[in-house]
Amino acid sequence: MTDLAYTAEVAEATAPIYAMLSDQYEEKYWQTLAPYIHEINRLKKEKNAVILAHNYMTPDIFHGVADIVGDSLALAREAAKSEADIIIQCGVHFMAETSKALCMDKKVIIPDMKAGCSLAESITAADVRLLREKYPNVPIITYVNTSAEVKAESDICCTSGNAVKIVNSFDSDTVLMIPDQYLAQYTQGHTDKKVLTWEGSCEVHERFTPEDIKGFRAKYDGITVLAHPECPPDVLAEADFTGSTQQMVDYVNGDVTGTKPERVVLITECSMSDNIAAANPDMQLIRPCQMCPHMKRITLPKILKALQEEGPEVFLTPELAEASRVPIQKMLDVS
Ligand code: 13P
Ligand code: SF4
Repeated sequence: MTDLAYTAEVAEATAPIYAMLSDQYEEKYWQTLAPYIHEINRLKKEKNAVILAHNYMTPDIFHGVADIVGDSLALAREAAKSEADIIIQCGVHFMAETSKALCMDKKVIIPDMKAGCSLAESITAADVRLLREKYPNVPIITYVNTSAEVKAESDICCTSGNAVKIVNSFDSDTVLMIPDQYLAQYTQGHTDKKVLTWEGSCEVHERFTPEDIKGFRAKYDGITVLAHPECPPDVLAEADFTGSTQQMVDYVNGDVTGTKPERVVLITECSMSDNIAAANPDMQLIRPCQMCPHMKRITLPKILKALQEEGPEVFLTPELAEASRVPIQKMLDVS
């Protein structure tokens, strides 16, 4: 059995991480997290495993054990390049399936199989086949927040970071973008093509309202508002910038405008603000908390168990892997 005590060795090894996270975790609580961080980092080296963590992971995971962090597009790209034997996907199930489709020769493990997504659950492969019959000559562009079966019926995938570029890469006047109605509506505002869609939505981003943003502006002078395109259009209309989670990180790092905002609010899942706050102690982050219950299923104890047991593993049949890999790879080639 692994000894998970907070020893002097654990304290020393995790001190640089705690220096960054001391505003987020009280010392007593940190002492319960640090042994997991230390053991996960030891074991992943021993097993040649890589931890891919989405921007919505909690700071202990994001800053403590992740090797690669980013949005769905970045994680897919990194999975495709990885030389590790094992990929531990800290995110939701569709992300692990994407990694598996791109890396059939590797073990792809998700620490909690039940980490789903309201968008992925909003549409099935049978639905896509019916759409294909209804719109025979219209390209089907599928958000990566979908199952492998749905991707397999699609012409190309997109993420929130490249949706406009993917839509504009087609010659046709009309495209079908599934399943996120709000990402499709956002994209419609940035293309001359007609964008048809589906009625899916993200249960986290659809909770934000324009009044939330007006309230932040009234309360915090000069605040910069960044929003994810999964938010409804009336919310995006109030924001200063709309982008994928990684594009929001780029914005706060000053890579979009050339300067870092001093005061910012992220209209997205709340762990992202915690991760940015930890990396930018001088920035004032207003942190409304809309939590994704699926992302929050991933915890340090489950990551350690997943590494120790090398499971639960995500499997795809070779046929499904190939059929879903094609639209993912097309997206990576275009973007
Ligand atoms: P990103 O690709 O922007 O990280 O979005 C993924 C997601 O699930 C947002 O809710
Ligand atoms: Fe799905 Fe929304 Fe959670 Fe992202 S935040 S994983 S889109 S439910």
